[in-house]
Amino acid sequence: MILLDGKSLSDTIQQNIIKECATLDIKPGLAVVLVGDDAPSRAYVNMKERACQNVGFFSCKHELPQTCTQEELLALIATLNADPKIHGILVQLPLPKHIDTSVILESIAPHKDVDGFHPYNVGRLNTNLDGFVPATPLGVMSLLESYQISVRGKDVVIVGASNIVGRPLATLMLNAGASVSICHILTKDVAQYTSRADIVCVGVGKVNLITESMIRQDAVVIDIGINRLDSGALVGDVDFANVAKKASAITPVPGGVGPMTIASLLQNTLKAAKQIHCDTSKGAGI
Ligand code: GUN
Repeated sequence: MILLDGKSLSDTIQQNIIKECATLDIKPGLAVVLVGDDAPSRAYVNMKERACQNVGFFSCKHELPQTCTQEELLALIATLNADPKIHGILVQLPLPKHIDTSVILESIAPHKDVDGFHPYNVGRLNTNLDGFVPATPLGVMSLLESYQISVRGKDVVIVGASNIVGRPLATLMLNAGASVSICHILTKDVAQYTSRADIVCVGVGKVNLITESMIRQDAVVIDIGINRLDSGALVGDVDFANVAKKASAITPVPGGVGPMTIASLLQNTLKAAKQIHCDTSKGAGI
């Protein structure tokens, strides 16, 4: 069984970003926006900001209260869209219920949309064109690639159909030549799908959702779930101890997909900075 070590690959990617940054005459800049006081969101935002500092990016965190209006958030995004020091904008989700998430995501300039959530980038991914790809699915693909696990011609099952993970991951897998099934809340028999899959990816936030009996011998298992137990321990959605005995490769939690999300966000920010710099230096002035 191979343990897919996302922490180690993330560290390598970050070292490479540091080296590439040293050759650039611009400093990539990421703005992270946090609305409200959701504790996990705060922790993720802090992690993203720290990662930027570690690779030498410029970063700024904007915190708005839970009660802020949609117009206030739109005004902040308009300022960031126009700020030449900022190449990437990330609005941490979920947003408070009184704010329309799709209006906010569509207000981010597509060329600064390092989360890949703007319909422009979603459409580009769906038509297999270059654009910004959401960080978690991108991290999953990079991890598989680094272990030379090809998805071409494979049967892939994704459990979870979120816009952040499941749907874009399914599209990336399809674009890479996999036959993809997506299971979701209405799926009658998830095990019927997972037990036939070469590669099972799960990210729904439910402890022990995937058990040993639900996967076939030598399947590749990608755990995108993050759950905090009452003990304080972090676990994924997979019964790791038992599934690992049957899988040919599996991601741990923590240390699997999580660090890859950070690495991919940094890669997207670097890509945004290079594109903006390149286009403006040619006079395009996006
Ligand atoms: N909430 C959970 N995951 C993500 C993510 O990748 N980006 C943003 N912006 N919010 C999230």
